[in-house]
Amino acid sequence: MEHRFSRSAESTMDSFIMSLVDVAAKPGMIAFATGLPDNSLFDIPAMRKAIDDVMAEEPYGALQYDTATGYIPLRKRIAERCRRELGFDTSWENVLMTSGSQVCFDLMGKMFLEHGDVMAVENPGYLGAIQSYSAYSPDFRGIDIGPGGVDLDQLSEAVSDGARLFYSIPNHQNPSGASYSEDVRKGVAEIVGDSGCMLIEDDAYGELGYNGRVGRTMKSMIPEDTVLTGSFSKTISPGMRVGWMVVPDWMVAKAGRSLEACCLQSNTFCQRVIDRFLQDNDYDAYLQGLRRGYARKKKVFLDAMEDNLPDTVSWNDPDGGMFVWLRTPEGTDAMRLYERLLEGKLVVMPGRPFHVRGGANTIRLNFATPTDEQIAAGMKVLGDACRELYG
Ligand SMILES: Cc1ncc(COP(=O)(O)O)c(C=O)c1O
Repeated sequence: MEHRFSRSAESTMDSFIMSLVDVAAKPGMIAFATGLPDNSLFDIPAMRKAIDDVMAEEPYGALQYDTATGYIPLRKRIAERCRRELGFDTSWENVLMTSGSQVCFDLMGKMFLEHGDVMAVENPGYLGAIQSYSAYSPDFRGIDIGPGGVDLDQLSEAVSDGARLFYSIPNHQNPSGASYSEDVRKGVAEIVGDSGCMLIEDDAYGELGYNGRVGRTMKSMIPEDTVLTGSFSKTISPGMRVGWMVVPDWMVAKAGRSLEACCLQSNTFCQRVIDRFLQDNDYDAYLQGLRRGYARKKKVFLDAMEDNLPDTVSWNDPDGGMFVWLRTPEGTDAMRLYERLLEGKLVVMPGRPFHVRGGANTIRLNFATPTDEQIAAGMKVLGDACRELYG
């Protein structure tokens, strides 16, 4: 008897990203490919102290099951940060802790999508999240994103067609590095507000603006129609898997139940350790250090691009996050560049998989992961390959 997978398993897309993590881990490889934070910016002594203190002072709480929705002191801390930094008031009861923000995307798909429902996603958009939604087989509508944000006409059309969800990254988008302008934020609020479409505002890089936050949160503009997702992955540690979603009142009970059904609860131990880390350290000063670290890294990376790459390729200068978006000449297929670079032991992320349509001539480069020495060596490989392929 043959076994048959569900529609959900069959329709889950390949993300390409995880396979690159494996390639990048091979000896001698230089990785500009993945979304890994800079190892040198982890605060190891402060984290060790937080772990020791939790184990010394609250071992049973840390090792036990907790409620599905998460550790209350940490939820209170996040609610307070929403009020102070993100421009909206929320009760801690609306903050639900998850195992990284990736779980939020799956929960939103589970709660809102039926097979074939229209869902708007940025084009290009963050592949990991789109992979998560793909399990619910929506009809993806790609909304083009440029330097100032998404195309409002395309978004309006998708919402008129009954889009159930719009997944957006208004700050330092992965992969393109773009942030929404104030006008685009207002336009999105007008189109999505009260339309029946839910906005998922992924704020993964919101705290990593080199000059602070770049704009108002959508959650502060249309709170009833927005779920904001956050994560400590890019600021404290991705391996600890601590993320959250801030949901409107009307969603709290359903979201809590879906979360419980999905994973009972997220990691009690890591939530307590992060809460302790935040309690004992000045998080704003810590974030300032990260922002300076990434701004410096970006400069090293862009200077190396300037020195090594021919002017047949172009790129942006992001004001936050971890990525530079490279364009090869119109009509070329950057997969060829990707393959050529692998021979030179440099891994980059082709841009095509981030797109619902188009994007063949794009590459995403992560400047956070490589060391300065790797940036210098990798950029030589990239420059030689670009000259060879594009002149
Ligand atoms: C835009 C964006 N959102 C969410 C995530 C997933 O983060 P988490 O580790 O919180 O699941 C990533 C990871 O790279 C990301 O780039």
